[in-house]
Amino acid sequence: MTVLGIESSCDECSLALVQDGKKILSQVIATQISHHEKYQGVVPELASRLHTEWILPVYRECLENSGVEPESIDGIAVTNRPGLTGSLLVGLSFAKGLALGWNKPLVGVDHILAHLYAPQLEFDIPYPFLGLLVSGGHSLVVLARDVDDMEVLGTTIDDAVGEAFDKVAKHLGLGYPGGKYIDQLAQKGNPEAYLFPKPNFHGKGSSMDVSYSGLKTAVAHQRERFRNPKVSEAGLPDLAASFQKTAVDILLAKLKKAVKATGIKTVVAGGGVAANSYLRRSLEEWKGVKTYYPRLDLCGDNGAMIAGLGYHLLRRGEDHGLHLMVESRVVRPRSPLPL
Ligand code: KG4
Ligand code: ZN
Repeated sequence: MTVLGIESSCDECSLALVQDGKKILSQVIATQISHHEKYQGVVPELASRLHTEWILPVYRECLENSGVEPESIDGIAVTNRPGLTGSLLVGLSFAKGLALGWNKPLVGVDHILAHLYAPQLEFDIPYPFLGLLVSGGHSLVVLARDVDDMEVLGTTIDDAVGEAFDKVAKHLGLGYPGGKYIDQLAQKGNPEAYLFPKPNFHGKGSSMDVSYSGLKTAVAHQRERFRNPKVSEAGLPDLAASFQKTAVDILLAKLKKAVKATGIKTVVAGGGVAANSYLRRSLEEWKGVKTYYPRLDLCGDNGAMIAGLGYHLLRRGEDHGLHLMVESRVVRPRSPLPL
């Protein structure tokens, strides 16, 4: 079964053709980063306009590279939630046009579940597993029971971890989006140089929730000290390495709790921050737990993960039809497990 996947929820316009939920026949990822860079964040109006301009050429390139004819495409999968409304609408409208023109089934895919599907494009990971979804907009620890069935064990009460990486990078005067620049700078620094605070939750809320605003502020205060000419700028790599270690250790501690609470010994990471080298190394070194993360080009937003997950829905005979709508936000069920 060959599925066309369409992703346009944020600032990547990506289409991919995937066979049987596994084999990527072709994929094009057009990133808008250079257009949003000067604003240090994604401008929703600009994002949807660019998707409108780019989606047709991206589609053409994807099909040409694959050599696949539209007649041999069995179905269309499109991100319809969550994301920026205008951007989602461009992808969905395009998908509906193809579904109508080709008379093929159309399924809407949850972007977050698709990030957790990304490693399945390369590995066969049995369900249930514990998922760590870390991106610019989300920091979730989840229990994934199936490709489209998950419960939230923990989430952020303020900033997402990727957002914290981006804001700290801005304070350090690095590029946008800052995660990869912090990662690079941290290679030259000492992660034990600064002891930054980790959030502590008492009473209310899930013990698996995370918080990043305190850490972000602590790093910003420390950075201010370097502006004093008596203190050397040479300390920046140490600052980046210590921040990165703290940010990732917060997530690892929650995952360890989740393994203990559920007895599930398979952990799958996904999302842009899953590209972080310290996170990947820590997952690899975790003894007694089987860990997975996507290859680097599948950590960020991409059409292949949408086509891959969509295949399972289409195979079940699902067709969401032309009434499918976008949902910019999704309310996710919290696990009833005593955590
Ligand atoms: O999943 P994604 O591409 O987009 C969404 O937010 O949905 O994630 C982007 C985030 C950004 O915050 C970026 O700084 C972060 O992923 N990121 C990283 C690394 N590469 C990208 N964070 C830490 N280390 C990295 N190597
Ligand atoms: Zn994403």
